[in-house]
Amino acid sequence: MVRKALHEDNRRAWNAATVVHNSHKADQAAFLRAGGTTLFPEELALLGDIAGQALVHLQCNAGQDSLCLARLGATVTGVDISDEAITFARQLAADSGIPATFARADVYDWLAEAARRPARYNRVFSSYGAIIWLSDLRAWARGIASILKPGGRFVLVDFHPFANTFERDWTRQTPYFSDGAACTFAHGIGDYVGLAGEVLAPSGYLEGIKDFVNPHRGHEFNWGLGEVATALLDTGLVITALREYPYANGDRLFDQMRELPGKRMVPPEDVPNLPLMFGLVARKD
Ligand SMILES: C[S@@+](CC[C@H](N)C(=O)[O-])C[C@H]1O[C@@H](n2cnc3c(N)ncnc32)[C@H](O)[C@@H]1O
Repeated sequence: MVRKALHEDNRRAWNAATVVHNSHKADQAAFLRAGGTTLFPEELALLGDIAGQALVHLQCNAGQDSLCLARLGATVTGVDISDEAITFARQLAADSGIPATFARADVYDWLAEAARRPARYNRVFSSYGAIIWLSDLRAWARGIASILKPGGRFVLVDFHPFANTFERDWTRQTPYFSDGAACTFAHGIGDYVGLAGEVLAPSGYLEGIKDFVNPHRGHEFNWGLGEVATALLDTGLVITALREYPYANGDRLFDQMRELPGKRMVPPEDVPNLPLMFGLVARKD
């Protein structure tokens, strides 16, 4: 069941957080104009050559990755529920001179509307903190399958759901299997960009807004890796790649994370390795 009221709480929480996240990032348009990228090798490898391809970026936030994908030659449509994020993305497109289309919408509404239109897409892409906001995995997967062209692919790179069962201090308090139940936080999404520092601010880190406490509630959904894969397989999509990575790109998920080259964050020496990200490709036949 799609839980729109919870999504609306999340929209408000993301509106507040996006202002704070962008307050830490120095001139992003100049960074893009100078050829800088916010993309990582993992998603680029799974996406393959996107030149000339019609690509939808679901949950695109403020559009930085969307614009980097557009610069690689894709015709990009970014979709996000946050008003602040989409307003920022449109301005960033104008200021950087990289063309892309941005739609402010709940992903479920946008997918339903897109399915009614004739246009179909070569790539649907989503990444880094997307899955936990989805209240109905099956409806999401059906929507994606319905807008792909035959031969098109859905590419997902996200933080591993097992990693989501750890608190920042490495204690484990969240169950892995939650059967779609919402996990509600009084203070929505926090300032993870401020916590990550330069790693998530490739255009340059600014002190920006400090001591942010989100005034809005947030609701997350801890879907397991099997649930994600099954939802996609049940639509008839064919999973052609499923990878797990022992590092998290650009995000200090937990205390005392160590940074390896390429902004790969790994646990401290005394913590055994664990899957911190996964990547998946699902093809439409
Ligand atoms: C962690 S961010 C993803 C960042 C993204 N990978 C990027 O390129 O910057 C998660 C995004 O999901 C969006 N979101 C959450 N629930 C949503 C929904 N129901 N429909 C559309 N977007 C949603 C939030 O507004 C937020 O921008």
